[in-house]
Amino acid sequence: MSDSNIAKVIRFGDQKLFIDFRRTMADGNHAVLFVHGFPLNHQLWRHQLDELSKTHSVLAIDLPGYGQSGPILDGTSISNLADLLGELVFELEIAQVTFCGLSMGGYIGWQFWKMHQDKLARLICCNTRASADDEVTRRARIQSALTVERNGIQHAAETMLPKLFSPTTQENRPEIIAEVDQMIRRTSTNGFACGQYAMKDRADATPWLSQIDVPTLVIAGSDDTITPPEEMKAMADEIKDSVFVEIEDTGHLSPLENPKPFNLALKEFLA
Ligand code: MLT
Repeated sequence: MSDSNIAKVIRFGDQKLFIDFRRTMADGNHAVLFVHGFPLNHQLWRHQLDELSKTHSVLAIDLPGYGQSGPILDGTSISNLADLLGELVFELEIAQVTFCGLSMGGYIGWQFWKMHQDKLARLICCNTRASADDEVTRRARIQSALTVERNGIQHAAETMLPKLFSPTTQENRPEIIAEVDQMIRRTSTNGFACGQYAMKDRADATPWLSQIDVPTLVIAGSDDTITPPEEMKAMADEIKDSVFVEIEDTGHLSPLENPKPFNLALKEFLA
């Protein structure tokens, strides 16, 4: 094996998956696995892939139904997605990963911890939560899936964009908002609906937090109204070997809104 870069759609079982895998042998058989939030794709991590690949092997994917990947199968659960990633890691001959997930990616991360502990060296939880949905949120997800199936993905872009960013990003960084708008519009309606159904039925990971024994980094955005920093700090406090970092002037999409402090936190954690 040697250093190599792959950025392409691969056939994986009966699915087509886009992967961006930059392998450096200096990192042994380890890689940082980046898993995006809903309803986005691997481009969420573009700053981290460019920076961290100088020293670490990095792997980012478009989950099925998102970005350049093929469709997601109806009924796919969050634990199915964690299993898919476990199989991918095995297939790519990566011994262990640092699992870095944002929001929905974080939900998949809890399941990855539960089901693939042998493949998990460290955990990075960004702008996410451990608790499952309440009934109101579950109903809202069904409604949102039906609306997008009826009206198209642009409806999701229009309703979600105002909630994703800090006031600073909203006022000063129109290019970031345009970039995320494009990411959402690239999501298939099938990916959007299946994502909502999968998240609606996800397990409550709160009881697992005190059992997590891998080093864990928890990153919050000071202005994140979807997964507020106070809730994330309380979550970090439950995890034995955890570090909590709050990034200023940042909303729900911290790796894209404020990549400098985000990358610094990552590098310190991985050092
Ligand atoms: C995400 O960014 O992945 C979503 O906010 C997750 C969710 O809808 O719970």
